[in-house]
Amino acid sequence: MEKLIELKNLYKHYPILGGILRHQINAVKALDGIDLDIMKGECLGLVGESGCGKTTTGKAIVKLHEATKGEILFHNKNKAGKESVIDVVPLTNRKMKQKGIRGKLQMVFQDPTTSMNPRMLIKNIIAEPINEQVKLSSREMESRIKKLLDTVGLGGQHLLRYPHEFSGGQRQRLAIARAIATNPDFIVLDEPTSALDVSVQAQILNLLKELQDKLGMTYLFVTHHLLVVKYISSRIAVMYLGKIVEVAQTKDLFENPMHPYTLALLSAIPNTNIDKRSKRIVLEGDVPSPLNPPAGCRFHPRCPFAIDRCRTEIPKLEDVGNGQLTACHRKEDVAKLVKDTFGFSMKR
Ligand SMILES: Nc1ncnc2c1ncn2[C@@H]1O[C@H](COP(=O)(O)OP(=O)(O)OP(=O)(O)O)[C@@H](O)[C@H]1O
Ligand SMILES: [Mg+2]
Repeated sequence: MEKLIELKNLYKHYPILGGILRHQINAVKALDGIDLDIMKGECLGLVGESGCGKTTTGKAIVKLHEATKGEILFHNKNKAGKESVIDVVPLTNRKMKQKGIRGKLQMVFQDPTTSMNPRMLIKNIIAEPINEQVKLSSREMESRIKKLLDTVGLGGQHLLRYPHEFSGGQRQRLAIARAIATNPDFIVLDEPTSALDVSVQAQILNLLKELQDKLGMTYLFVTHHLLVVKYISSRIAVMYLGKIVEVAQTKDLFENPMHPYTLALLSAIPNTNIDKRSKRIVLEGDVPSPLNPPAGCRFHPRCPFAIDRCRTEIPKLEDVGNGQLTACHRKEDVAKLVKDTFGFSMKR
């Protein structure tokens, strides 16, 4: 598979200001050196506990937030079909538009009410990103918007309505219509179904799957709901406190989790294979503050397998079998303990 986006040693530190002169006294280390490849046409799930940096990763890629350091390489194809690799980190919004990349990276949020102007008509909300790309006559624009609404399962009769006149599920369809209006290559879906009830969740997930097949888009699906990500994603990346700890094919991750944190996340979901086994790993305490993350392995204060080395040495993300894994200092011991407690061996 070809790469579409490569994150290389990506940092996002949000400054904390203080003192009379409001100078920087600390920083929230939301992303602290992330490496991640997103392949063309895949749906990559990004999971992890609240505050670990999932949304920040998405916002950095679509340039809603500027990364502090590192590279975001986008494999761009121009209109003539020529491919070039562009680092979007140093690009200004204007340069992004000039190079025709602005509309190719889109994002859909959990709560579309906050991302849509309540005083704008639907037709204007959807026309906005199109206007940034091309100038269409009003008739052309109207037919394009009607087509988009059709694609997401809403009729053209909704053009002259306001966002509050829609149900939550319909509003999420509108948000998706707006995101696909510019024919993007890549969409960050940030908890797109978390605010919806279960039946509507399924409809939206199916719509996203259908659109991906039809339009050949690549998704980064951000969620903390592991079963949703199991349904929609072909690969999953697990994040903990601003770092990626494990990346694997969905099937491998569920059958064969290798990092102690992934193991703990999976053992917490009911109705999985792991749940049928006798024991669970219960994580104690909360995620530490990203203001002062722990030294060594970020996960060591909560890791049931931690040893002295974990408190001082920062483990690196390494290639293993069919994915990547933070080189856990106790890989062999963890494997043995997992076999003893859960009764399966780690094969990857
Ligand atoms: N604009 C901001 N200014 C300062 N800190 C921020 C900002 N946005 C996010 N953060 C901090 O960065 C860290 C990561 O936040 P992020 O929103 O990426 O987490 P998340 O994994 O998406 O969590 P959730 O699952 O709750 O949505 C958090 O500690 C958060 O407080
Ligand atoms: Mg978030």
